[in-house]
Amino acid sequence: MTPARPLIPYPHALTHDEGHFVIDSDTQIRAMRGAEPAADWLAVFLRHGTGFPILTAPLTISEAEAALDNTIELILLDSDPELDDEGYRLDVMPDSIRLEANTPAGLFYGAQTLRQLLPAELETPPTAGEPPAAVPCLDIEDAPRYRWRGLHLDCARHMMPVAFIKRFLDWMALHKFNTFHWHLTDDQGWRIEIKAYPRLTEIGSQRAATPIPADRKTLDGQPYGGFYTQDEVRDVIAYAADRFITVVPEIEMPGHAAAALASYPELGCVGSGYQVRTFWGIEDDVFCAGNDQVFTFLENVLSEVIDLFPSAFIHVGGDECPKVRWEQCPKCQAAIAREGLKDEHELQSWFIRRMETFLNAKGRRLIGWDEILEGGLAPNATVMSWRGTEGGIAAAAAGHDVVMSPMSHCYLDYYQSEDTDNEPPAIGGYLPIDQVYRFNPAEGVPADKSGHVLGGQGNLWTEYMPTEAQVEYMAYPRAAALAEALWTAPAERDYGDFAARLNAHLLRLDALGVRYRQPNERES
Ligand code: ACM
Ligand code: ZN
Repeated sequence: MTPARPLIPYPHALTHDEGHFVIDSDTQIRAMRGAEPAADWLAVFLRHGTGFPILTAPLTISEAEAALDNTIELILLDSDPELDDEGYRLDVMPDSIRLEANTPAGLFYGAQTLRQLLPAELETPPTAGEPPAAVPCLDIEDAPRYRWRGLHLDCARHMMPVAFIKRFLDWMALHKFNTFHWHLTDDQGWRIEIKAYPRLTEIGSQRAATPIPADRKTLDGQPYGGFYTQDEVRDVIAYAADRFITVVPEIEMPGHAAAALASYPELGCVGSGYQVRTFWGIEDDVFCAGNDQVFTFLENVLSEVIDLFPSAFIHVGGDECPKVRWEQCPKCQAAIAREGLKDEHELQSWFIRRMETFLNAKGRRLIGWDEILEGGLAPNATVMSWRGTEGGIAAAAAGHDVVMSPMSHCYLDYYQSEDTDNEPPAIGGYLPIDQVYRFNPAEGVPADKSGHVLGGQGNLWTEYMPTEAQVEYMAYPRAAALAEALWTAPAERDYGDFAARLNAHLLRLDALGVRYRQPNERES
């Protein structure tokens, strides 16, 4: 029997054939109109890995019908009903490779599969003695189980440079993730330039100190700060778009707002005395919900965010908003009375609904953490369920779209081993890779509502990830397991099979320089 190919995520249907297609100095790529993005990506990849010139040229329909010799043909279909939007067919024959899809995204995923069928050595420039760039002959028909396949990165607690974000996006593309949730604002730092409010970055991007990883009650005494300019943000969005990844920005409200309040104290209930938070944890000071200036501010901020980010979804946070200030604030209490609200939970719900009206008028959809269910969900809101899946299940049952991101399977900031003494300090928890692998976003959702489950997402909160190396260590290889959980149907998944493929896949991550954690299986 032919061994399973080390593909992650594993495709829906794969049939092996005899022989190989060998890439040599005469191999060319031919792309039908609309197939250029995937063709260009593939050409750059193959030139880099083989040193061969690998020319690309247009492909006509009649040429595509008679397979061209020593050619990789990329064909954009005219809406084949048998194939999903993001699906593709890959036919590797001894003399030619045919990749077809309904969309440029589908072709890109096919190109990633082709990449994974090639030796890991192709991830780096050629060296003497490298194996030939041979692809085994086979037939694949593939499509993702879910259309939201996300990774989140908290750049507020620790900020990662643009060059790192691009590498992070490259690794996402390798695993067919399509959504990068960029957490840009929090109590400990505001990280996105907003032209209308320069103090957000002058003041809000800087904190006086950071807790030391080994002891969260002790501060290091070192000022920490930084932010992304709007040009950098545009650069990241364009880089992601080239890899068919949508960047969803998160601007936190009404809680997790200390950095904004330190910059503009009039936006808080008390009105003064705020600081960019240094300790981790939940901050009592939040945006005042009874002050119209707050809504003007947030609408102006979101207007700039909307101009930057083409994403259909804008994430407004909504999690962990203590109500102690609102309980004491005359303006908040007046808003509760004026709007006929029952309590502070309904005030938060009213706040989020108001932001949703604004976003919808701009043609965008609001997404927030599951606390936005409390006090009543905004009419069109999408819920990102993190405290478990119950919130997501309730929202789906009520006809809302949901993204499942429960702590039980998706919190990549949790420990990967129970032997925490031998792990770098982490926030807590325990989430081994096999548990991530067993994630099933639709579990518990009534079958007739499962269409509301857009997909799932892994979250990287960076309180205990001060360095790029630590983000890589926490993300991989668990993100590879998550990628398969979101792409491949549960009935087609098997952890033992995945673990075997992962051992080979790790060679590719090695070639890419990913500083992942060695899975336990390999240690013994
Ligand atoms: C969250 O982890 N606070 C969404
Ligand atoms: Zn208030």
